[in-house]
Amino acid sequence: MTAVDLGLPGVPGTNNGAPRPDTPALIDTFGRIASDLRVSLTDRCNLRCTYCMPAEGLDWMPGGEMLSEAELGRLIRIAVEQLGVTNVRFTGGEPTLRKGIETIIAAAAALTPRPRISMTTNAIGLSRRARSLADAGLDRINVSLDTLRQDRFTEITRRDRLSDVLDGLAAAQSAGLAPVKVNSVLLRGVNDDEAVPLLRYCVDNGYHLRFIEQMPLDPQHGWNRSEMVTAEQILDMLRAGFELTPSPTPRGAAPAERWLVDGGPAEVGVIASVTRPFCGDCDRTRLTADGALRSCLFSQTETDLRGPLREGASDDDIAQLWRSTMWAKLAGHQINEAGFAQPLRPMSAIGG
Ligand code: 5AD
Ligand code: SF4
Repeated sequence: MTAVDLGLPGVPGTNNGAPRPDTPALIDTFGRIASDLRVSLTDRCNLRCTYCMPAEGLDWMPGGEMLSEAELGRLIRIAVEQLGVTNVRFTGGEPTLRKGIETIIAAAAALTPRPRISMTTNAIGLSRRARSLADAGLDRINVSLDTLRQDRFTEITRRDRLSDVLDGLAAAQSAGLAPVKVNSVLLRGVNDDEAVPLLRYCVDNGYHLRFIEQMPLDPQHGWNRSEMVTAEQILDMLRAGFELTPSPTPRGAAPAERWLVDGGPAEVGVIASVTRPFCGDCDRTRLTADGALRSCLFSQTETDLRGPLREGASDDDIAQLWRSTMWAKLAGHQINEAGFAQPLRPMSAIGG
């Protein structure tokens, strides 16, 4: 289905009044249908990227508040079997820190219809685990990598692990987790001179690079619009090293605008979450590691599923809660509106 025209992005409120059509799918009042489930498996991370976490880390979720493997498996099954979810992406924090991730992936891969399964990871440890993750049913990965310079990697992530990440990327490629995508956030005055080298590296290695505009999701509330490196600036920098032409591939609900690099077949994507929001085409529904359902990265409200799960709710009860949460999804993130407020949870506790 095509999403309806939402007019200006970020219009507050929902199309109130319309009755929810009698469909099992996760439809909202704007006609968008969510089929892409993002599951955060932990809020912990083995890096401390400055734009994501303070050096000392955050107050991690207590174990007892996190969904168990069985609870996760049940929710993912309900999403796939009853709600029309076709894609499941595991995120964090760093999802590979979650014990039993292979079991969780295998359970998702055993569902009918089998969802496409992906993971957003910093790739640390992947050089050892890429194969077992692929064997469990993982189809593809997105790796976060903001710099190719060891000193800068240590400055940005506060850990000296660049070589682990590069080894992890190569291991993912050889394990067939294709296409291997790389996500980069450019920070002004920190790594904003690396647009061209990052793309050169990814093209040479067969990775698909996407630059993501920095969003106001950091717990330190340090995001600053005037400091953000915009999609337009990124494209200008890339054009100094490459010829970019619009990709012929239809964009669909994908957040990245794609460009052919030097005539293709290599491509580069730019995710202009702030300057060119794509909320009108959003097909996401999100589950946090402690069982909260969110209709948007930027939601100010969430629906607790863990409580009902532990109090004996039926699959149908859970499915109905999920449908009504998504029905209330707002038009957009409102980053560009006066009075915008960051969500209470930081990115690391929601999942990218
Ligand atoms: N804005 C944009 N991207 C972010 N990421 C983390 N925080 C932000 C932010 N504030 C990215 C990470 C990783 C993915 C999970 O999201 O770099 O690629
Ligand atoms: Fe970890 Fe990702 Fe946050 Fe970096 S951005 S600290 S890799 S969760």
